Amino acid sequence: MTRIEEFKPATAAEVEAFRIKLLGKKGEIGALMEEFKSVAPELKRELGQKLNHLKTTAAARIEALRGAIGEKEQAAASHIDDMTRPGTAERIGSRHPISIVKNQIVEIFSRLGYTVADGPEIEDDWHVFSALNFPPEHPARDMQDTFFIEKTPDVVLRTHTSSIQVRTMEHQKPPIRVICPGRVFRNEAISYRAHCIFHQIEGLYIDRNVSFADMKQSILYFAKELFGEQTRIRMRPSYFPFTEPSAEVDVSCSICGGKGCGVCKGTGWLEIMGCGMVDPNVLEANGIDHTQYSGFAFGMGIERIAMLKYGVGDLRLYFENDVRFLNQFDSAL
Ligand code: DAH
Repeated sequence: MTRIEEFKPATAAEVEAFRIKLLGKKGEIGALMEEFKSVAPELKRELGQKLNHLKTTAAARIEALRGAIGEKEQAAASHIDDMTRPGTAERIGSRHPISIVKNQIVEIFSRLGYTVADGPEIEDDWHVFSALNFPPEHPARDMQDTFFIEKTPDVVLRTHTSSIQVRTMEHQKPPIRVICPGRVFRNEAISYRAHCIFHQIEGLYIDRNVSFADMKQSILYFAKELFGEQTRIRMRPSYFPFTEPSAEVDVSCSICGGKGCGVCKGTGWLEIMGCGMVDPNVLEANGIDHTQYSGFAFGMGIERIAMLKYGVGDLRLYFENDVRFLNQFDSAL
């Protein structure tokens, strides 16, 4: 008779064949049952118990074999030979550093009640220049090397996100508090510090009694949130057609803390944005009564902020999409 201990099946089919051989209708145990019918009555009780015990033990052992084989076969099918081995991580990529910094800036201003506004990249003269107080033929237009389309000179690629200010004022009445991220285009030679495509963020705040002090405080809050609590700011007088007065904002150098180093070229300060009180001409051109309302605006280059934050020395790296560069940035934002 077959000994279960000696049976070493390799597949579930082998176990099944073995079960039939042993427990099937014409199997070995079945044959014993047949023989049992003809044993002497005085032996029936004892033999019957033994036979039943044999039958249930065999069934249980076969069930155990079937279970063990099943696990083995499943593992082989799914190529998992060691269930405790750590899995292979899926590479899901990382966010682009420009997106990370953009999201951080948007998040900081959203805490001050700003909402995000958007506008088209392909613009017209009115939204990029005229409504922002650039007079026709005024040399101020040369401040930004615009991409025009020759046959339709009124169609331009926006040179700054200030055009979104105009779009916002067109269909929103004060109070207005918007932050406008976007891509801008300028006809500039590509170098480590300039590119013909880059990103800006524009801010606009219009309400009754908005003052220069409100602007300064908002920008100081922003600078501290982005570069750290120890950050100081300073404003230098400047000129933009759409603001009066206008200023350029510097932050204390986050590398040397203001003592002077290579990054800040020994000055202790880094320029981060332009700003100013919205020119009354701009308010009027956009249907807002300048005797009732005032406001401030500011604009900054995202690449520049990201370069300062991450200590990246060449702006072109942001556009090459070399994964060895991009892999180094990781953020929940
Ligand atoms: N649009 C300006 C530029 O591209 C940046 C800027 C300066 C925006 C002053 C502003 C501002 O809103 O008030 O250089």
